Amino acid sequence: MKFFIDSADVNEISEIASTGLIDGVTTNPSLIAKSGRNFIEVVKEICDIVDGPVSAEVIATDAETMIVEGNKLSKIADNVTIKVPLTWEGLKACKNLSVEGIMVNVTLCFNANQALLAAKAGATFISPFIGRLDDMGLDGMELIEEIRTIYDNYENLETEILAASIRSVNHVRQAALIGADVATVPGKVLKELAKHPLTDKGLDAFMKDWEGTGQSIL
Ligand code: G3P
Repeated sequence: MKFFIDSADVNEISEIASTGLIDGVTTNPSLIAKSGRNFIEVVKEICDIVDGPVSAEVIATDAETMIVEGNKLSKIADNVTIKVPLTWEGLKACKNLSVEGIMVNVTLCFNANQALLAAKAGATFISPFIGRLDDMGLDGMELIEEIRTIYDNYENLETEILAASIRSVNHVRQAALIGADVATVPGKVLKELAKHPLTDKGLDAFMKDWEGTGQSIL
């Protein structure tokens, strides 16, 4: 499973990417607004830090302008992935950009039929939003399962499932169990993946016992 970091905070991306655990980055207009920085500059800096796909989202709502924006953003760096919304216009833009060889991430996916259309439109990634479905009292993981089943039913559907709107470590575990290809995870949740109280407790005990030996390794 690939891990993308869901962030437009260059310092956070840089720190977490230094672990070697990050395969890509996803940004969206809200994350760019939160960074308070210039969109193009931030995307360029992120692309210099991470080799894998870096999603940059178009702002237009009509296909023609989305394609122009997508072409402009794709020139920032070779690893830019153009993010388009899962609308009829977004699907048209996806088809057009993907035919040109540009990676496309179709975002704001909330049902399996939308995911099927995105794959038919040549999307590199489909982004089903787990947390936002859970927020409505629905089960975001069911959507990941349905998309996995549909994509596995047809060899010609090569789109990768990018589990998005991940809010907890449990979301990551469940998405991995189902077989999502990628999880895009906020930095805070990524760090929590490494935590377990028994790990901390065990390490404390090892350290105390080691102190008692009076030895040192270096
Ligand atoms: O990149 C999109 C995404 O992951 C959004 O997450 O928490 O705003 O629903 P959230």
